Parts: sequence; structure tokens; C-alpha cells
Amino acid sequence: MHTTAMHTTAMHTTAMHTTATSTTADLAQLVGLVEHDPAADPFPVRALDAVVFVVGNATMAAHYYQSAFGMELIGYRGPDTGCRDHVSFVLRSDSARFVLQGAVDPASPLADHHRVHGDGVVDLALEVDDVDRCIAHARAHGATVLAEPHDDSDDDGTVRTAALATYGQTRHTLVDRSRYRGVHLPGYVSRRATLPRPDMRLFSAVDHCVGNVELGRMDEWVSFYNRVMGFENMAEFVGDDIATEYSALMSKVVASGDHRVKFPLNEPAPGRKRSQVDEYLEYYRGPGCQHIALATGDILRAVDEMRAAGVEFLPTPDSYYDDPGLRERIGQVRVPIPELKARGVLVDRDEDGYLLQVFTKPVGDRPTVFYELIERHGSLGFGKGNFAALFQAIEREQQRRGNLH
Ligand SMILES: [Fe+2]
Repeated sequence: MHTTAMHTTAMHTTAMHTTATSTTADLAQLVGLVEHDPAADPFPVRALDAVVFVVGNATMAAHYYQSAFGMELIGYRGPDTGCRDHVSFVLRSDSARFVLQGAVDPASPLADHHRVHGDGVVDLALEVDDVDRCIAHARAHGATVLAEPHDDSDDDGTVRTAALATYGQTRHTLVDRSRYRGVHLPGYVSRRATLPRPDMRLFSAVDHCVGNVELGRMDEWVSFYNRVMGFENMAEFVGDDIATEYSALMSKVVASGDHRVKFPLNEPAPGRKRSQVDEYLEYYRGPGCQHIALATGDILRAVDEMRAAGVEFLPTPDSYYDDPGLRERIGQVRVPIPELKARGVLVDRDEDGYLLQVFTKPVGDRPTVFYELIERHGSLGFGKGNFAALFQAIEREQQRRGNLH
């Protein structure tokens, strides 16, 4: 009953974000949109504009996200286009857009960032209609404005942007690209790869981006998104929801008005051993983006292709599928259980429907950033029924790394 084909998506999807394989109705189903009146919203957000990473080698990361995640290289900026400091590659998969940045000049601030944090997310950029209005609201509610609203132009038009600080060294750049027809932002050039382009994308949108924040500060960050950005509280998981025998965490989810943008926020909770959030905070040297969930219409194909390309997923024990209570808990789903079992895909059902989900191992050198694939069938949740199985699987990996103690 919450899921509707939103008028907002059609209006809010720019030409840059639209492809033949992603229709408005698809997107509403894929990411679980709800009805919303942007006119009554103090900080109306159209969509996640881009996930911006700093990595140790953007040239090779761009190859990885093409060859292993099936993304398409569309844009570039670097020394040969006048940016002396760093290179930046823009990739997309339908409406999901990643920007991969790496230092060229050793004196680049990106090199300093990478030495401290390793590969990670520096910016969860948001597409908005009115950058100035959003910044005025944010400032009045206590936000730190990192960049004042300003225009940047090139031959393809003008983009208005500004930036807000959020947890750790992460920011939200606000982007109004309504007067721009270029490939990404002024200064970027169109760039294609020599890799063969897959016929279909493996995922179509970013469903949610999870932030790990400091012990005891989750509620502050929830309040930040409530006050500064008008996000509403969607779900929370505390106490026994996310606790194993050894470790625990707490999580609350904030979302933009139509739930197009969803930010779960985790903090570690006291447990007998160090939690996955503690491990992240140690290796990332502070709060940051923990995982990015990618919305797919065909999770089996996505897992098969990504596995074939070398992506490692968290294994799910056979006992998860052999549990006699599983069928009762999940009801009828579109895929036979043996197909899910073969790929370690988890299932969860709530009052609105069900979802299929699976998690990669961390994709970089440090045990920090990883990915989720999620295929929603009505469910607007995050897989609460799978938390125990998932966190036990994460703990087995933590144990192997010598970080569960
Ligand atoms: Fe998730």
C-alpha cells in the first residue's frame, strides 16, 4: 500500500539519469517509493546524484566497476583536461552513478585522505531543485556549510552546487543540474571504454547508503538528518534486533520525503566482542559510509555475473535454507529456495511484501566498504529477519581477519 508509481520520479529524473531499461514504475518498485508532496518539504531531494569515492588507483577501480559490476564509463576529468591534481572517472548503471577519484599530484588533499581512510566514500551527492533554499534551511538548523551555493559552467550549460558536512569526513554536495546537459559536471568530458558494453545493467539504482557513526552518536546524526535535511525516521533496530552471541550494533534509518534516498545509520553497541562497526571505525579511522545497497530487478543474474567476474559474496550457511521455519517466514517468493541457496541470497518478508538480498565481502584492502544487492518485491524494509544470519556471517569473516576479540 505504500508503493506507488510516483509523479515525483518522472519529474525528478533528468535526461542524464534516464535509460531505456529503467522506467518510472520500475524505479518506484525497485527502491520502494512512497507518496510525498515536495511542496511541503523544507529540503526536497529528487534523488541521490552520485556516490563519490576517493580510491588509491581510480584508473584501476574504474576498470573493476565496469568489469565486475557491469557499470558503464561515461565521463572523465584529469591532467589532460586541465585538472592537475587528480583523475576522476564517472560510471553509471541506469540511475546509479559512481564517481571515482584518485590523486595524481602527491601533494593532493586526496592523497592525504586516502592515506588515513583508504578507499572510501567522500560524498553522497544529492540532486535538488533549489540549492539555495536547501542550504538556507540547513544553515538555519545548524549545518556546517562546506561550500556556498555557486554556479559552474562550460559549453554544456551551468550547474549550481553547494556542500554540507555530515558524519566523519563525508559530505553532501547538493546539485541542481536542471540547466546542464553535459555528461556529469562542468569540466568533465565524455569518455567511453574499450571494454565491451553489457546488454543489460546488473543494477538500476542506489537503494540506500549506510553510515557507521561514533559510539553513542547515532541519535545525534538521526536528529541532524531530521532537522537539517527534513528527512523522516523510517525504521530502527536496537537491542536484540541486531545482536549475536558476541557483538551488537544499533541502527536507525532516515529517508527523504518519498524514500528515494535512504540513509541507515549504525553505531556499535556494547557486546562481548568487537562489533563489525567497531572494526570499520578502527580501519576507516572514523565514521564513514559502510555499505551501498544496489537495487536490482534480477538478483540471481547479478550475483552470477559478478561472481563470474571475481566478486566475493558473504557465504550463507546451508542451515539458513534448511531451517524448517524459513518457508513459513518467507511464504511464496519468485525464486525456488535451491536457487537462492546456490547463491547465498537471503529472503525477508514484512507486511508490505518481501525482498531478496546478498552482501559482498569488503571490496577494498581494508575491512570497510562493501556492497549489498537488493531486489524488492513490495517490502520497504532492510532485511531485519536476516540480521542474525548476516551478522554471524560477517563475524566469521572478522574472525578470519583476527579482528573479533
Ligand atoms: Fe543494507
